[in-house]
Amino acid sequence: MSDTKLLYLTDSYKQEAKAKVVEVKKQANQTGVILDQTIFYPQGGGQPSDVGSIEGKNGSIKVTQVAYNQGKPIHFGKLEGNLQKGRVVSLKLDWRRRYNNMRLHSAGHIVHEAVMKVAHGIEPIEGMHGIGGKLYLKYKGIIDRTLIPQIQEKTTEIVASNKNISTKLVSLKKLKKESGWVPKNLPKNKPLRIVRIAGFAPIPDGGTQVKKTKETGAINISDIDYENGHSVVKYQVLAQPKLPSTHDDPTFKPKRTLEEFASSITQLEEKHLEKLSTASVDQKEQVRIKYLGRRGVVNQLTKEIAHLPVKDRKEAGEQLNRVKLKIRQALLGSKTKVQSQRLKSWLDVTTPGEKPPQGHLHPITQAIEEITRIFENIGFTRVRFPEIDYDWYVFESLNMPPGHPARDEWETFFIDAPPHKKLGELVLTTHTSNGQVREMERVKKAPIRMINIAKCYRRQHDLTHTAMFHQFEGLVIDRGINIQHIKGTLDYFARKFYGPTVKSRIRPSMFRFTEPSFELDFSCVHCEGRGCRFCKSGWHEVGGTGMVHPNVLKAGGIDPEKYTGFAFGMGVERAYTLKPGLKLDDIRPLYSTNLDFLEQF
Ligand code: FA5
Repeated sequence: MSDTKLLYLTDSYKQEAKAKVVEVKKQANQTGVILDQTIFYPQGGGQPSDVGSIEGKNGSIKVTQVAYNQGKPIHFGKLEGNLQKGRVVSLKLDWRRRYNNMRLHSAGHIVHEAVMKVAHGIEPIEGMHGIGGKLYLKYKGIIDRTLIPQIQEKTTEIVASNKNISTKLVSLKKLKKESGWVPKNLPKNKPLRIVRIAGFAPIPDGGTQVKKTKETGAINISDIDYENGHSVVKYQVLAQPKLPSTHDDPTFKPKRTLEEFASSITQLEEKHLEKLSTASVDQKEQVRIKYLGRRGVVNQLTKEIAHLPVKDRKEAGEQLNRVKLKIRQALLGSKTKVQSQRLKSWLDVTTPGEKPPQGHLHPITQAIEEITRIFENIGFTRVRFPEIDYDWYVFESLNMPPGHPARDEWETFFIDAPPHKKLGELVLTTHTSNGQVREMERVKKAPIRMINIAKCYRRQHDLTHTAMFHQFEGLVIDRGINIQHIKGTLDYFARKFYGPTVKSRIRPSMFRFTEPSFELDFSCVHCEGRGCRFCKSGWHEVGGTGMVHPNVLKAGGIDPEKYTGFAFGMGVERAYTLKPGLKLDDIRPLYSTNLDFLEQF
């Protein structure tokens, strides 16, 4: 049996083809089909398998998986009817899925080129481009995490410069000569394929690739992990751009000419319009469906416009619109009658309506609602304060006088406005701690149990930081409040928000507005504090806490001799992304407009 011809190797944009059935194998409740040639990519090289359909005269298969079987792609799926050996069948890819796989695969090659430019003394081992939702490149040797910004910059530059990505079949000898890296165990007696991003060395590759680097959309280098002396560079492909239309596909070949199309239009006018004007009311409804219905003649012709040369499509559309108008006018004569007849014959008022697509609350809004409910249940009151506030509330009343070095940590955005005589400059709130003194002023006396959830702003942007984010701030002031109350409240929150086994931990730290101060951690929901790839140490840092500093109580008009209090502040995004089942190690996509990502929550 000769080998299956792999059409995707030379034309990865081919979505349909004919092929001859070579063998049909029954395997449990699946059928496997081997063909003389195929456009289906069998899973391998980190790229997932294609899916689609194989249609024959007497049967068809919805292809759900393609795998290599003794060197030949075998197309698996459920057989309806019969496919016979030797017969010609039509192949059709699920193009949306394939095109996405091509983008992910090419993105991997782009990231590889960026890594090789930036890091030294490493060797590629393997790449994963979408199988199991994983996207990474593994290298022998250590690539320092501090190189991520440089790898990101180079990657973005390659995408933005829209370089050509080309492939060609070569002999092993030529491959060895041209490529900087040759994997082991390559077949010796077959033509092999190399892929080249313009300006970089060719690389052996059997997958399907896009033609231009811009087609991948924006790529994000999300992290570098380390495993047994290997570095795993993880990437994400953020936007899912539209499928390229035939307008910018250089390989598009028109199937019809404008003359052929125009003759179909003339035929429609000459033969049918006359019949239409003389049709009875009953016939007119049938005629309407035949010409203007969803599967009618006009819609068929509309689809054919896509097969014309791009330059002729406008003219064809105009011709078709003209005829459509004439058909409508011919039908108009008895419109009222036709409508009333339609009502009588097939309007079923009991048919359920179609539901319009419904959105849902943003995941962070959902998290804020959940946090609010948890604290309200133990007597906290949700409050809101200005998100543009005076220096006094954000810093000075919190024991950070002007010029104090502790202010540097809060990378602040200042508002260009004249300062208030007493309260100072206006800033975008860098934390929700501005609510502490504001709440003391609002309530005027203890006890206080506040939960303040608001937007915060800092000049920061990386995996775990965004310029706009949310914090939730707790403040409890009463007689006899001590550190045990902090632990009790945080353990309660951890159990409610993450699950019964999660615990809180506090570690000594330094904030100017609490004394003593602590970093605040939660045990990892995935490994219950034992330590895993996600948490490394078994714990995740989520915020800060401590006993309210006497100076802060004084600034809020509360007597520190009589009352004590505790406060905590946590990042909503940070707290939310640690929830069971999420494992989100990058918070930035939460604020992208990528609906494919957001609709998951
Ligand atoms: C504070 O902001 C203190 N106000 C917290 C506090 C309140 C301490 C009350 C004591 C008493 P910190 O700068 O560490 O602390 O920020 C707290 C949390 O906010 C961080 O752990 C993180 O989860 C989140 N966070 C901070 N900056 C960002 C950012 N740019 N993007 C997303 N989350 C952030």
